[in-house]
Order: sequence, then structure tokens, then C-alpha cells
Amino acid sequence: MDKLVIEGGIKLKGEVTISGAKNAVLPILAATLLTDDACIIKGVPDLRDTNTMIKILRSLGKDADLENGIVSVSSLKKTNCVADYKLVSTMRASFCVLGPLLGKFKKAKVSLPGGCVIGVRPVDLHLKGIRALGTEVNVESGYVIAKAKELKGSHIYLGGVYGSSVLATDNVMMAAVLASGKTVIESAACEPEVEDLAEFLIKMGAKIKGHGTPIIEIEGVRHLHGASHTIIPDRIEAGTMMLAALITRGNILIKNVFYKHLGALIDRLEEAGALMTKTENTIHMRYRGQLKAININTLPYPGFPTDMQAQMMSLMSVTPGISVITEKIYPDRFMHVAELNRMDARIQREGPHAIVEGREELSGAPVMASDLRASACLVLAGLAAKGKTSISRIYHLERGYENMEEKLEKLGAKIWREKE
Ligand code: UD1
Repeated sequence: MDKLVIEGGIKLKGEVTISGAKNAVLPILAATLLTDDACIIKGVPDLRDTNTMIKILRSLGKDADLENGIVSVSSLKKTNCVADYKLVSTMRASFCVLGPLLGKFKKAKVSLPGGCVIGVRPVDLHLKGIRALGTEVNVESGYVIAKAKELKGSHIYLGGVYGSSVLATDNVMMAAVLASGKTVIESAACEPEVEDLAEFLIKMGAKIKGHGTPIIEIEGVRHLHGASHTIIPDRIEAGTMMLAALITRGNILIKNVFYKHLGALIDRLEEAGALMTKTENTIHMRYRGQLKAININTLPYPGFPTDMQAQMMSLMSVTPGISVITEKIYPDRFMHVAELNRMDARIQREGPHAIVEGREELSGAPVMASDLRASACLVLAGLAAKGKTSISRIYHLERGYENMEEKLEKLGAKIWREKE
């Protein structure tokens, strides 16, 4: 296993180009199951999660390959409707093959994804949604077994205790596009990645309105055809790079970013005193003096993304004053607190809140990554800290950041891999 070593304290400077969005590409690859025709997906990041989804597509009877940022998918043989535990358990997003398999074949057997380090993560909303379309759903030996004679459009309220669900919205939308009649999803997730999936489905011939809002209307069609699509930029990678500029007191021009997808983060950073220049596809982030501590509440989009909470905690750890960070989506998503404290941060967790007392500086230390965004948070802390930080279990980072080390190295960071 590799660990990542960072010699901190260098101001990052230069340009970086953001890759395609992980959370958009995974359901879009799953959506190719809705047609026998060939599909071309462009702007695909070469990530561990992307490659897992490609393996799942192959296991279900597709031919799929990633080359130079393009995935070509075609049908090889008769589709297998069973998504195996070994693959689904490695990545929760693989559960979103349920909707398309059901939509196209009226049957699916998909392993339950299980919990993960950021919390319990149930699938009740996914099952509620597909049941409302007329599916018989049973859970047997760790698998969801779903079958329907016919899928029928329905009015579905999909909100849960923590608000809308991204992958449940994706799953229900993908099942409903080939159902008979009209489906309305109320309290749908509004994340740009859900919108991107809907845009791809529309290119395949689906009739969808209202995507990007809490009410999505789908008029079922009989058949979907092949399509070509370019994935939107990854707003979480872009946000992480914005914080890399601030935490190292640097100057980074971030290219291939849609600033409109980053409203809540931009608002919080401006409140903290950060200055940036935006165009439609770029953000130029320059450190212009000491920031002030601010409070953060994570919420479903367009609120502050839970996937930026850990990285923001690193920035607040070196920003004078008290910052209260409240996690409203995954109340247990705080595995990074203890690791940041090993680097001399002063963070106290109280239920769904983390109270951060900003320090002058952090000090490098050996730390351990627990999940994808916690890894990014430790990389940011390491870039800012005095001395050397070594981050073990760095494979988490490879799940969601394409060439993170190379990109940071080009910006001047001293970062390298070592065998553990
Ligand atoms: C997606 C993202 C993930 C992000 C999360 C929240 C992908 C591949 N992953 O995950 O990066 O952190 O959205 O923005 O897009 N919930 C239920 N019942 C369900 C489903 C979810 O109670 O059936 C709860 C979850 O436990 C959580 C909240 O709803 O508290 C939101 O989760 P959800 O939006 O479903 O997350 P994912 O789609 O799994």
C-alpha cells in the first residue's frame, strides 16, 4: 500500500484543469444499460470508482473501455441482471444499476451496498421509489430482488429524514423513463450531477422536465437509443483546489469549472474574506490576506455540499477565530477530526457539530485517511502544515480525484508517494 508524503508550507501557484465529475459519470455509465445501442461518454475521469463501474457494466453483459477520457459502451451479449456483492460492496454508487436494469428488463438482483465509514447510508428511498412504479421488491440474502410485469408511472414523494437523495433520485428517474405514463418525483435531488444524468437520458430519447429542481416530471417512452455525452466538471475537485489556493496562501487559476455549481462554497468563502475572479469556465483564486472564521451547515444542493465539509475544516483549522461546522447530511461524517487534531488542530466534536478553534499553523504528522473527502482534507492540511505529513490509506483519494498528486506537483507542491 502507498502513502502520500507532503512537505508543507509552499504557496501553490499556476493553473489547474478540473476533471469530469465522478458523481455524474457513475450514474451516466449505469444509464447505458437502458439501451442496446452504443454510447460514447466523454470527459471521463480515470478513477478507481469509474473503473469499478466499467467492471460492473462488463459483468452485466456490456463491452466498455476507458481510453483517453472516453468510455465507449456497447452490448456484447444477453444482459445479466445480477449485480454481484463483490463489486457493489466496493462502491455505493454501483447500486444505481438497479433503476436501469429494472427499466429495461423489468427485473434486477442487486447486492445491497452496505454501510460505510461516513454513516449507515440506507436505501429505503430507492426501494420506496421503485415500488411506487409497480415493482415487487424483496430483500433476500443481502440482495435486492426486484421484478415488475410492467412499470407504471406514479407520483412519488422521495424526501427522507435528511432531505433528498441523489442516487435514489437517479435510480427512480432511470426506472421511470421506460415506464408507461407519467411519473412525478417530488423532493427530487437538485444536484448538478442529477441534472447531467437527465440531460444524457434526454439525449437517449427520454422525456424529462424539471431536472435540477425538486419536482421532476417524466413521460415514459417505449425505447431509448444510443447517445454521446460530455460529463460536467467536478465541482468538488474544483472546490478542493480553491481551498488549496487559500490554505497555502497561493494563487491558482482553476480551469474547466462551472462556478454556478459552487454558489454555496463561493458565498461562504466570500464571507470569510476571500477574493476571486470568476468567468463562466474559470475561477482565479488568490490569497489576499488573513481570512476570518465562518460557520458552515451542510445541506442538499444548492446548500453547502457535505462533500466539501472535511476540506473546509482544514481551512478553518488555520483561520483565526471559532468556526462551527454542522453536518446535516451525514451526522457521523467526522472521522477526519481526530486526524486533524494529530496535526495540532484544535477541533472538538459535539454531536453533528465540530467546533474549530483556528490556529496560526498546523504541524506535519503521520495521519490516516478514512474516506475519500477526509483524504482530501488531510492533503490540504499537509500542504499548509509546517514540516512533513504522511497520509496512509491514500487509495481512498484515488476513488475520486484524478491525478491529484500530479496536479498539485505542477502547482509547486512537494508531494510524493512512498511504500508503507
Ligand atoms: C451522493 C454522492 C455523495 C454525497 C451524497 C450527498 C454519488 C455517487 N455520491 O451519495 O458523494 O456525499 O450524495 O450529497 O453521487 N438516505 C436515506 N435513505 C436512502 C438514501 C439516502 O435516508 O434511501 C439518506 C442518507 O443516509 C443521507 C442523505 O439521505 O443522510 C443523503 O444521501 P444521498 O443523497 O442518498 O447520498 P448518495 O446518493 O448515496
